[in-house]
Amino acid sequence: MIESPLPSLADQRRFWDERWDRQRLPRYYQSRRGETILAVLKSLHLANPEILDFGCGTGWFAEQLSHYGRATGIDLSETAIAHARVTYPNIPFIAGNLYETTLPEKHFDVVVSQEVVAHVENPIAYLDIIARVLKPNGYLIITTANRLVMERWDHGAPDPEAHIKLYPNRREFKRMLCRRFRVLRTTSIMPVGDRGVLRLVNSYKLNSALGWVIPPRYLERVKEWAGLGYTLVALAQKPGSA
Ligand SMILES: C[S@@+](CC[C@H](N)C(=O)[O-])C[C@H]1O[C@@H](n2cnc3c(N)ncnc32)[C@H](O)[C@@H]1O
Repeated sequence: MIESPLPSLADQRRFWDERWDRQRLPRYYQSRRGETILAVLKSLHLANPEILDFGCGTGWFAEQLSHYGRATGIDLSETAIAHARVTYPNIPFIAGNLYETTLPEKHFDVVVSQEVVAHVENPIAYLDIIARVLKPNGYLIITTANRLVMERWDHGAPDPEAHIKLYPNRREFKRMLCRRFRVLRTTSIMPVGDRGVLRLVNSYKLNSALGWVIPPRYLERVKEWAGLGYTLVALAQKPGSA
């Protein structure tokens, strides 16, 4: 099989500029993901932390993070950052390629990376940068779409080619984090999918029948715990000595 080359940075920027020109506010699944990240952040009980939203899009989530500490956002898309600066003038936003940032080393208590690691050309280098800008013992809260689900879900329009999509499965996701971080927790959220094994797991008939004995919310939790959710979520910590 011939693998197609990754889109150029200019193509990626164009793709994200167009995307953020069309959609400025989060959709349901993005809000749901955001709620999960905030629950993890709250569980850390940090006092006024420095937080980086690394790949912040239009800044909607940096705004939510700013209620828990001092938030900064950075993104490749100048359209998204222009919108963020106008909408949330009290939050510092940086437009630029994350591989070329001059963010201070060991500065942030928390880095939030929401659906970015699968969309950059070198996920390992991206995680290295996160490790560099985090303080020792600082936290990374990171999410990505789950390949197990992405390959088994007919979610309407095909994923456009003009952006990078290197979706990991749960094992690959943990493995890439383990190089630099202690992985404290992982889960998945929003079980969906309608092909292969997920056709059975999420079948309406089976779930309705099971619903007589297992409360639907509990059933959903079991699927999330088993890694069958659309989004993988991890809490990781930079070692104190690094
Ligand atoms: C799927 S979006 C997620 C945006 C936001 N975190 C959210 O959840 O709404 C991925 C984001 O990563 C950004 N991105 C991709 N490559 C980047 C790069 N090299 N440098 C900075 N940002 C990048 C894109 O511009 C895009 O806004």
